[in-house]
Amino acid sequence: KQRVLSGVQPTGNLHLGNYLGAIRNWVEVQKNYDNYFCVVDLHAITVPHDRDLLAADTYKIAALYLACGIDLEYSTIFVQSHISAHSELTWLLNCITPLNWLERMIQFKEKALKQGENVSVGLLDYPVLMAADILLYDADRVPVGEDQKQHIELTRDIVLRINDQFGTPEQPVLKLPEPLIRTEGARVMSLTDGTKKMSKSDPSEMSRISLLDPPEVITKKIKRCKTDPIKGLEFDNPERPECNNLLTLYMLLSSKTKEEVARDCGEMGWGQFKPLLAETTVETLEPIQEKYKKIITDKGYIESVLKEGRIKAEASAHQVLARVKTALGFSVPL
Ligand code: TYM
Repeated sequence: KQRVLSGVQPTGNLHLGNYLGAIRNWVEVQKNYDNYFCVVDLHAITVPHDRDLLAADTYKIAALYLACGIDLEYSTIFVQSHISAHSELTWLLNCITPLNWLERMIQFKEKALKQGENVSVGLLDYPVLMAADILLYDADRVPVGEDQKQHIELTRDIVLRINDQFGTPEQPVLKLPEPLIRTEGARVMSLTDGTKKMSKSDPSEMSRISLLDPPEVITKKIKRCKTDPIKGLEFDNPERPECNNLLTLYMLLSSKTKEEVARDCGEMGWGQFKPLLAETTVETLEPIQEKYKKIITDKGYIESVLKEGRIKAEASAHQVLARVKTALGFSVPL
């Protein structure tokens, strides 16, 4: 089986963008692959973080992976910081990655703007750590939302460079991974501005639906979300980003085809469509929330899942790290 690796940062609650752009797709394809799903806590400290929340949020994400349907028969769940090889490979990759490749990254530029003078070296290095996550497991496929595409391209550039400098065509040092990005749902937009992506860092809670929002909150957010005064509903009209986003959400959550949604909702007004979308969202999230509530109270269970995951992931990570160190010419400690 081919390998899949992906991850989510333990910062706050997951939202519909994280679910539809990433986790739901992991769940859908997990049977076809050997999967590694990481909670990337080292990434979460690249911007100022709250030390009192980091560990709890890490458990929360692991519990959400399970609640969303990640199945331990096919998938390994682990915590990035539990495996020191992530930090170690990052250093090795740092030394062969040109600085200007990182300075070009869109997410770095966006986040750096917000941080001003306090931008950490870690924020710049974020994509190299992400490359290490992917490469330590010889991943073939990386299922993510659209916003991570550039980071995976950078990972590929790093692989080509290291293989060129330290490998041979017959014996490459690292495996070249491919992104796995869906056409629909890869970029879920904000509920308050259809031209911005739904994001954990948006200061307004009204801009996103959290996977753990109670039904009445979901209904309220959808009721108040931004729309337009045009009659009828349609996909793909660039003048109507909110309309396209809300129809796409409905399509994904109801598992209907685009044609079906266009046909069923084309004539609707917002007053008719919004309750339908709210109801569908609540129905999709309810079973996840039920499962989550059970799992999160059983800390011992989460710990045992993460321990098993660490042991399994570590085996792969150590092998790849040793391969890279050998290729780079390091001496072997006795
Ligand atoms: P993070 O935690 O920001 O987001 C987790 C996943 O959710 C996707 N996503 C979205 N998809 C659609 N619409 C949106 N509005 C939306 N917002 C977020 C992201 O694309 C991502 O797939 N750098 C990664 C974490 C990471 C990682 C990795 C991913 C670290 N190492 C290795 C894959 C492989 C990130 O910031 O995720």
